[in-house]
Amino acid sequence: MKQKTRFSLTFRFENNRLKQSRGFLTPEPINDHKATKKQLSKQDSGFSPETKDKDRLQELTAELDSMIGLAKVKELVKEIMAYVEICRRRQRYQLKSENLVLHMIFKGNPGTGKTTVARILGKMLAELKVLPKGHLLEVERADLVGEFIGHTAQKCREQIKKAMGGILFIDEAYSLARGGEKDFGKEAIDTLVKAMEDHKNEIIIILAGYEQEMEKFLRTNPGLRSRFPIHLHFPDYTKEELLEIAALMVRERQYKLSLGAKEYLRTYLQAQLETNRTNFSNARLVRNLIERAIRRQALRLVQQQIYSRNDLMLLLREDFEEKEIEETGLTDNVLPLSLRQ
Ligand SMILES: Nc1ncnc2c1ncn2[C@@H]1O[C@H](COP(=O)(O)OP(=O)(O)O)[C@@H](O)[C@H]1O
Ligand SMILES: [Mg+2]
Repeated sequence: MKQKTRFSLTFRFENNRLKQSRGFLTPEPINDHKATKKQLSKQDSGFSPETKDKDRLQELTAELDSMIGLAKVKELVKEIMAYVEICRRRQRYQLKSENLVLHMIFKGNPGTGKTTVARILGKMLAELKVLPKGHLLEVERADLVGEFIGHTAQKCREQIKKAMGGILFIDEAYSLARGGEKDFGKEAIDTLVKAMEDHKNEIIIILAGYEQEMEKFLRTNPGLRSRFPIHLHFPDYTKEELLEIAALMVRERQYKLSLGAKEYLRTYLQAQLETNRTNFSNARLVRNLIERAIRRQALRLVQQQIYSRNDLMLLLREDFEEKEIEETGLTDNVLPLSLRQ
């Protein structure tokens, strides 16, 4: 039996035998109002998040909320969390409760926060005891697809083992289907699907990538769609959001932007949005600009020798300005994965 909620979560009943063994078909009636406190605390024990866990959940929710924009993503994540919690609670009360399927697809351009949200989500699911560990392992085609027979299965198994207890996040997932039928990528997909079944309570798989490529990938692999019932769309940031992200990143690092630097960033981002849409890497571009400005500020200060506390914090326009020789890697889709976080 399949049911769909508003946010297209699909969940399935396990087989009847299991349902019966868990008492799903003959639920013991429990009346919340009549149950004594003792009964309730007994029923809740082992499930209801401890205060410590609740604090941690609140911290993680605050971390998600501190991200700029992403209103829909935040709402959906909260719905998923609430849904998971209620499902677990219903199980405790022996109400019908479906097997949660939480594999997801994250669609969006580079630098729109997919990895960051996945990382927070993993930690939240660990707090709710849906995942034993909740860590995130980010992989791409080269980590999963081998070069000779048997190599792919072995590589996949290694990555699955590392991700066990947490989230296996596959970036640019469609590249697994790149080489067509004969490619080892197909074997990687099959191995992953098998792992999803074999370890359904120990691993969550998130496929991520550009919206259109992702859609095409799902169309050509129709079996996959139902296995990944939750879809999150990460929109491009607006210029204003990018500027807020810049302000946030600078604040977190205990730096400040001078007025000139702010002005420069605004004009620079505007120009990039108008001319470089296809290679635009959203918040990652902003982060790279800031990190480069921080390095340049350091050089400027070292050369200047005398500097105040304020100088140590202030990033100037000249720290951001394009210089002719070194402009490579700012639209950094080409950066290796290890440097992209
Ligand atoms: N909404 C946001 N608010 C603040 N920082 C963000 C936001 N989105 C992304 N970032 C930052 O931008 C960088 C790239 O984000 P990331 O999650 O790796 O993007 P993606 O996985 O979609 O390519 C990270 O440093 C991340 O912290
Ligand atoms: Mg990413």
